[in-house]
Amino acid sequence: MSKRVLILNGPNLNLLGTRQPEVYGRDTLDGIAKACAADAAKRGWSVDFRQSNMEGDLVTWIQQARGTADALIINPAAFTHTSVAILDALLVLDIPVIEVHLSNIHKREEFRHHSFVSRAATGVIAGLGAKGYLLALAALED
Ligand code: DQA
Repeated sequence: MSKRVLILNGPNLNLLGTRQPEVYGRDTLDGIAKACAADAAKRGWSVDFRQSNMEGDLVTWIQQARGTADALIINPAAFTHTSVAILDALLVLDIPVIEVHLSNIHKREEFRHHSFVSRAATGVIAGLGAKGYLLALAALED
């Protein structure tokens, strides 16, 4: 079945490629977007890939996913650990939600171990770099 997948990225992920490459890898966000689009196209799906440094943008886009997206992949970045607003927006959705982190947040500082978002996630992928986004797409296959 053809799916519309919304992929959202939080703050500072626009800097991927040059931002702490030893932690986040050398893939750019644009490269990840292109890899996701190519993978989705092979499955006959469409992808809407977005990034914002603003919490409110992410909340609005999650709200707009109701009725316009069949699945959501989200890397909320630092908002993972702080945002009840993003959690609340996600709790309203009745589509699969996959939370993705490039780094293994559980291996890092203590403040990264807790995710508000996981409470609303169907599944969580962390620590596998950019490949995590493609694994999330694969997980959405019926
Ligand atoms: C991240 C992990 C977060 O702790 C961090 O704030 C990010 C990126 C990741 O993809 O590994 O910005 O979500």
